[in-house]
Amino acid sequence: MEAQLEYGNWIRKKNLLILGSCTLGVGILTFIPLGSFYRISMIILFAIILVSFLFPLYAYMMFSQKGGKLQEKFYNLIIQSLGENVKGRIIDIGSGNGVLAAKFAQRHEKTEIVGIDYWGKDWEYSKSVCEKNAQVAKVENRVRFQKGNAATLDFANDTFDGAISNLTFHEVKSAADKKSVVQEALRVIKSGGTFAFVDYFYDEKYYGKKLEFEKFLRSMNLAHLEYKPLRDLIAIPILLEHPKILGKVGIIYGKK
Ligand SMILES: C[S@@+](CC[C@H](N)C(=O)[O-])C[C@H]1O[C@@H](n2cnc3c(N)ncnc32)[C@H](O)[C@@H]1O
Repeated sequence: MEAQLEYGNWIRKKNLLILGSCTLGVGILTFIPLGSFYRISMIILFAIILVSFLFPLYAYMMFSQKGGKLQEKFYNLIIQSLGENVKGRIIDIGSGNGVLAAKFAQRHEKTEIVGIDYWGKDWEYSKSVCEKNAQVAKVENRVRFQKGNAATLDFANDTFDGAISNLTFHEVKSAADKKSVVQEALRVIKSGGTFAFVDYFYDEKYYGKKLEFEKFLRSMNLAHLEYKPLRDLIAIPILLEHPKILGKVGIIYGKK
């Protein structure tokens, strides 16, 4: 059988296992005969825990390649948004398992990709899976991965011909204002270079009010800029439009 890319999943399996075990545990405890007050309280608790398990389980299935393939749809959108005939050095910020970087290199044969990530223990991703994915995609000669911090990239100004990133900037804990992470990503792109970033760009918690974020983007003096909600570009299942899942996700793309 042909080797497949190992996507990983934006919903951590560990969290699903914990929630699944709690649901099962509370379900079993409900049957202890300790009176009707106990039974009713446990049934209510069970219902709450069951929903908090089923919701992320549904999201997991929708993101997965065996289900709704949403992760792949996000990657394809980012790749398309950089335009045709992309050449040169591209940075992928927060590579995760490196699938976006590998697919990007497959699509654009005249590019070399550097994928950076800090691969912390919070996530179920690793540099070794990134490297394996690059081999599976047969692009390992043009894609390399290195540990790095999106808040302070280890590259000089104007190093790259393009930059891509998916759902990473809001995760950068050392940056209270995630606009600084966008600015850092733009710093390493050459003038005339292209970029496409997906993140929670409509979430005030990370980027401030929409008008404030737009003002910031204008202050970057970009040659071209598009700023759109993701649901206008990708069919997102209604339940996943919840603000805590994908409802506040957007894309910015353009040219420096
Ligand atoms: C939601 S995952 C997305 C991963 C990948 N872009 C994808 O689409 O599958 C967020 C990623 O951001 C990375 N990350 C979080 N903080 C980071 C930082 N300060 N610098 C670099 N990477 C970071 C995590 O390790 C994780 O791989």
